[in-house]
Parts: sequence; structure tokens; C-alpha cells
Amino acid sequence: MTPQDQLKQKVAQAAIAHVVPDTIIGVGTGSTANFFIDELAKIKGTIEGAVASSEATAQRLKAHGIPVFDLNSVAEISVYIDGADEADPSLHLVKGGGGALTREKIVLAVAKKFVCIADDSKKVAVLGKFPLPIEVIPMARSYVAREIFKRFGGEPVLRDGFTTDNGNVILDVHGLKITDPVAMENELNGIVGVVTNGLFAVRKADVFLCGTANGVETITA
Ligand code: 5RP
Repeated sequence: MTPQDQLKQKVAQAAIAHVVPDTIIGVGTGSTANFFIDELAKIKGTIEGAVASSEATAQRLKAHGIPVFDLNSVAEISVYIDGADEADPSLHLVKGGGGALTREKIVLAVAKKFVCIADDSKKVAVLGKFPLPIEVIPMARSYVAREIFKRFGGEPVLRDGFTTDNGNVILDVHGLKITDPVAMENELNGIVGVVTNGLFAVRKADVFLCGTANGVETITA
């Protein structure tokens, strides 16, 4: 295991303390979330089950024998646990490196609490070094790219050969300096053809479990 994977595993282990017994929890997508699913499997008897933020996560949960619920049959999720591509000091995030941003945002919307798990390479002063993923209806791809360039000046690049679980495409926007993530999240979502964008700022993380060489740091905004 690489040193970075070891940090991911440590935060995944620390996240188990945030799992609420006898409830349904939300589970994110990506390599850190995968470590969390593997830890969750060890205590699967203590929860009712999980709602998955992607097909890949649903498959991994099921492979571990963890019951997976359709979100439409669930009124409340106690806690949503997921990774991130970037986190700023206020716990605004960039997510969607794995392309699951829309389902992640939907599952999060139903959750009472958001625990973000990541290694310390994801900590930044200002969001935007990681290209911001935007899920777009395929026919709107060129229009949305032009609008983004006009309004924000970034460089939108189509994620090659990638289709989301919802049948859409992703534009990764390079070169943004995101000083007002809430305003940018709202404005991007107002462009016709955008399904959602990878800024998790309107609804940000409540807790950030950050893996460092000195152990897991618990950060709250
Ligand atoms: C997927 C995500 C992931 O949480 C994000 O990309 C981080 O992934 P990893 O844990 O593999 O670094 O938003 O859509």
C-alpha cells in the first residue's frame, strides 16, 4: 500500500466512529470511500443499510453484504461519508474527480451530517487547482463550455470517453481561482444544460477527517 493509501485507510477507520447505529447512512464514491466501505463491512450488523452515490459504490457495498437502499425509499440518512478532491479551510469542497458528483450531491441533500474523509494532499487555501468537474447534458456541452469561459474565464475540457451513471458528460474546468465558492456553485448551476457542478459549498462538509503523517486530524469549520 502506498503512504497515501495508508492515510486514506486511517481516515476511513476514523470515520467508523461517525456511523450512527440502527440507521441508514450515505456512502460516497472513490478510493477513500472504498476504504471506508471495507471498514464498514466489519460493523455491517450495526446499521440498517446504506444509500450509494454511484453504481460502483452500490456494487462494492453489495459485495460486502451491506444492504443497499434506493434513495426514493428512504426519508432520512443519518450521516453521509465521502472523499473530496479539494477542501478549503471553511470546508467548502471540490468533488467529482470520479464523476459521481450529481448522485453524491443528491444523497448528501438527504443526510443530516456530512463527514468528509481525505488525506492531507486535498487541503488547499483556495479551491480551483483541481479542475472543477461539471456534469452536463450531452447536447449542451459546447454551449455550457462557451458560457463558462465567458463568465469565469476557465478552460473547460471534455472528460474523454467518460459517461456518468446518469448518461451525461463531464467538463473539467481548469484554471479557476474559486474565492467565492457559494456564489460560483449557484451561478454554474444556473447555466442551462448543467446538471450540477462539483462545488460542495452551499452544503459543505460538517467535519473533515484529514489523514496526516501525525495521525487523523478532525477539522470543523
Ligand atoms: C468522486 C469524488 C471523490 O470523492 C473524489 O474524487 C475523491 O476521490 P479519491 O478518494 O479517490 O481521492 O468526488 O466523484
